[in-house]
Amino acid sequence: MTNNNMYFVANWKMHGNTRYIESSKSIIKLSKQKKYKNHKIIYCPPYTLINHFHKKVKKSKILIGAQDCHEILNFGPYTGSINAKLIKSAGAKFVILGHSEKRKDGDTDKVINAKIKSALVENLKIIFCVGETLLQKRKKLTYSVLKKQINLGLKDIKKFANIIIAYEPVWSIGTGLLPKNEDLKKNLNDIKNILKKLKNKKNSEVKIIYGGSVTPKNVKNLVEIKEINGFIIGGASLNSKKFIDILKKSTI
Ligand code: PGA
Repeated sequence: MTNNNMYFVANWKMHGNTRYIESSKSIIKLSKQKKYKNHKIIYCPPYTLINHFHKKVKKSKILIGAQDCHEILNFGPYTGSINAKLIKSAGAKFVILGHSEKRKDGDTDKVINAKIKSALVENLKIIFCVGETLLQKRKKLTYSVLKKQINLGLKDIKKFANIIIAYEPVWSIGTGLLPKNEDLKKNLNDIKNILKKLKNKKNSEVKIIYGGSVTPKNVKNLVEIKEINGFIIGGASLNSKKFIDILKKSTI
């Protein structure tokens, strides 16, 4: 079951230059076609390219996001740091927070919670990443890891309207390994139930996207899983042909 209203988040990580941005022209062209009109295509380049990219896509429906932000909301003496205000003023509308590569760098659940809160104050949309490591999966700790990451990451947050959850099993990122469909469905439903317990009933359904080795080859199988509302794509998003192929294969 393909769907014409999905998220496609290109996470460029520490890659990219202005030449890469030129390659987004083909995506802009595609996004104007009727059947792609309702998809949300979000490029998350490194900080240094946000403003340039934003100017290039301003007249299109492509949106720009950052890959992280500092937790402190106000400007101040924090050498080397970039906060939500700065990324917003550069043109970002989204920010990825809680990515496992940032958790590995030292971001705790508490820090991630503070980052999410600061980005919400700036009205940014959050792509909040959660997921278990291979060891945690082997020890059958996936559910408790997801529960802890979600409960602590979203602590004291009342409105989820600007939150998208990205389920990214750490062992699947950049490895070519994918969860089995049945495991993926279970984990996505577990995430929905964890969220249900947290959220105010008035909130609309939180979208959940999947990330981890998404390619044109496996995306057709992934879109069959109705719980998936889109993808966060690392490696394959650096190649515009592959990114277009992913979009095409996900769309009726
Ligand atoms: P990948 O990365 O598609 O290269 O596995 C996904 C991510 O880290 O968001």
